Amino acid sequence: MARITAGVATSHIPALGVATDLGKTEEAYWKPAFAGYEWTKAWEAEQKPDVVILVYNDHASAFDMRVIPTFAIGCAEEFQPADEGWGPRKVPVVHGHPDLAWHIAQSLILDEFDMTIINEMDVDHGLTVPLSMMFGQPDQWPAKVIPIAVNVVTYPPPSGNRCWALGEAIARAVASFPEDLNVQVWGTGGMSHQLQGPRAGLINTEWDNRFLDRLEGNTDALRHIPHIEYLRETGSEGIEMVMWLVMRGALGRTTRALHRHYHVPASNTAVGHIVLEPITELGDTE
Ligand code: DHB
Ligand code: FE
Repeated sequence: MARITAGVATSHIPALGVATDLGKTEEAYWKPAFAGYEWTKAWEAEQKPDVVILVYNDHASAFDMRVIPTFAIGCAEEFQPADEGWGPRKVPVVHGHPDLAWHIAQSLILDEFDMTIINEMDVDHGLTVPLSMMFGQPDQWPAKVIPIAVNVVTYPPPSGNRCWALGEAIARAVASFPEDLNVQVWGTGGMSHQLQGPRAGLINTEWDNRFLDRLEGNTDALRHIPHIEYLRETGSEGIEMVMWLVMRGALGRTTRALHRHYHVPASNTAVGHIVLEPITELGDTE
C-alpha cells in the first residue's frame, strides 16, 4: 500500500533557483536563506521518497487567461522545465508517476473533486525551485513527481478549507493505491509577499510564524482563514499559502514538526519552510 510519510512546505522564490543555478548560495545575502534547507537535504537523502505529490501554482507559464484550472493534476510521463523568459532552468526533466497520478485523478473525481487532467505541461519555478531546495543539484531528480497545480494567480482562488479537504481526499487516494510506495506531499509558495502596487515588499513576520505554529499539532484553525485576511495581512501573493493547506490536510489529524526555517530578506518574499510528519493518536479512526 502507498503511504504518505511526511509533508514539506516551502517558499518557491525564483531567485532561490537563480542563486542555485549560478552558484551563489554561499554569498552573504543568500547563505542564511539556504542554511535552513541543509537539514532537509540530509533528511531527504535518508528518506528517499518514491513519489512527491507537489502542490504548486503555475505563474502564467503553462496556463494563461485562456485556461485557468482551479485544481489540475499532471498525469504525464515527464514535465519539462518551463521557459520563464531567460530560457528553461538547466535542471533535470521532472519524471511523473502516471499510474499513481491516474489513480489519484480517478479517486479524487469519484470523491467529488472535479480535477483537470493534464497530459502535457511545462513546470515553472513554482515546482522546480522546491525540488532544488530539497534535493540540491543532482543529475536526475531522486523522486517521481506528481504535480498538483492550484490556481492562486487569478481571482477567485479556492478557499483554504477546500484546499485542506483536497489534501484529505489525496490521502484517501494514496491509501487505496496497492503498490508499496513512500509518498511525500509538498505544499509550496508564500509566505507573506506582495510583488505589485503600493504595498510591494510587504512582509508580516508575526502572522507568518503564527501560520507555521498552527501547521503543527491537531488544530485545524488554518482552514478557516478567509481570502481577505491573506490579502490584508500577507500581501496579494500571500494567498499562495492555501497550497500549504493541501499538504497539511493530507497528513491527517495530528502532525509533529521535524524542522522549521524562516528567513527575511530573500527577494521580495518571506522564506518559510517546515517539515511535518503525520502522527496517529489514540482514538484516531484512520
Ligand atoms: C517572488 C516570489 C514568488 O512566489 C514568485 O512566484 C515570484 C517572485 C519574489 O519574491 O521575487
Ligand atoms: Fe509564486
